[in-house]
Amino acid sequence: MSDLKVNIGNLTLKNPVLTASGTFGYGEEFSSFFDINDLGGIITKTITLKPRVGNPFPRIAETPSGMLNSIGLANVGVDAFISEKMPFLKTLNTAVIVNVAGNTVEEYVELISKLEDSDAEFDGYEINVSCPNVKEGGVLFGSNYNITAEITRKIRKATQRCVIIKLTPNVTSIGDVAAAVEQAGADSVSLINTLIGMAIDVDTRRPKIACITGGLSGPAIKPVALAKVFEVSKRVNIPIIGIGGIMNYQDALEFMMAGATAIEVGTANFIDPAISSTIVANLHNYCISHNIRHVREIVSSIIA
Ligand code: SIN
Repeated sequence: MSDLKVNIGNLTLKNPVLTASGTFGYGEEFSSFFDINDLGGIITKTITLKPRVGNPFPRIAETPSGMLNSIGLANVGVDAFISEKMPFLKTLNTAVIVNVAGNTVEEYVELISKLEDSDAEFDGYEINVSCPNVKEGGVLFGSNYNITAEITRKIRKATQRCVIIKLTPNVTSIGDVAAAVEQAGADSVSLINTLIGMAIDVDTRRPKIACITGGLSGPAIKPVALAKVFEVSKRVNIPIIGIGGIMNYQDALEFMMAGATAIEVGTANFIDPAISSTIVANLHNYCISHNIRHVREIVSSIIA
């Protein structure tokens, strides 16, 4: 046996595999495919203060080795999340991280306060300051490290739960933003959210998604994401959660070797809904066959 447990802030995850926000619904949608409790945790679809219908259609397009999305944070809103989605999430025996976003700094704080004042049972927050598909908040906040740090500071004061800040790669220096949020009290950073991209249908000359640009995810962005994780690992001491085109356990290992303590599986869920549990099993097999007693030994083990 190998020990797959990892620590993120005050959380001990049973293994380093999480599902990425926006690719795993609110968990229940995937519960018929495999036992979700096999995972280190799940990260919910982004929740906002009010329900959002999201952006006009089409808002998804396939690209070589990737996927463009411009969903626009469509979600049920915090009240329906607490009353309709939380009852299922409460039954899980794995970490539940709620991903949240706001249009203003005050909205983030109000949203967190609502969740803190509710009887909702969950383990932490992933703070989305990196969505490229909204006119307010999102990447506009995440690319300004003063605002990102201010949001982090205010949220830190509002909760004892684990606070993970999800960073955008669409900035000049992701290391500067990561260092700023560490100083502001974040327990962890997750990266990368999607890269801004576009695609055009040459017959109609129209963009393939209605909002013209969207967020690129999938294997196409993995090398970029790995480089960003490696860069951030040189700048912060808090644990990093690696995201970006992870399709199998080898990809997960690459992120861990580059500096990630845990990883999130995103676009791959749309191809194989049970892929994250396969990755857990294969990580375990890898540790056994390589005589690795604790998976955390892999973190930052790159020989460079
Ligand atoms: C979206 O809802 O537009 C995608 C979420 C994100 O990129 O953070």
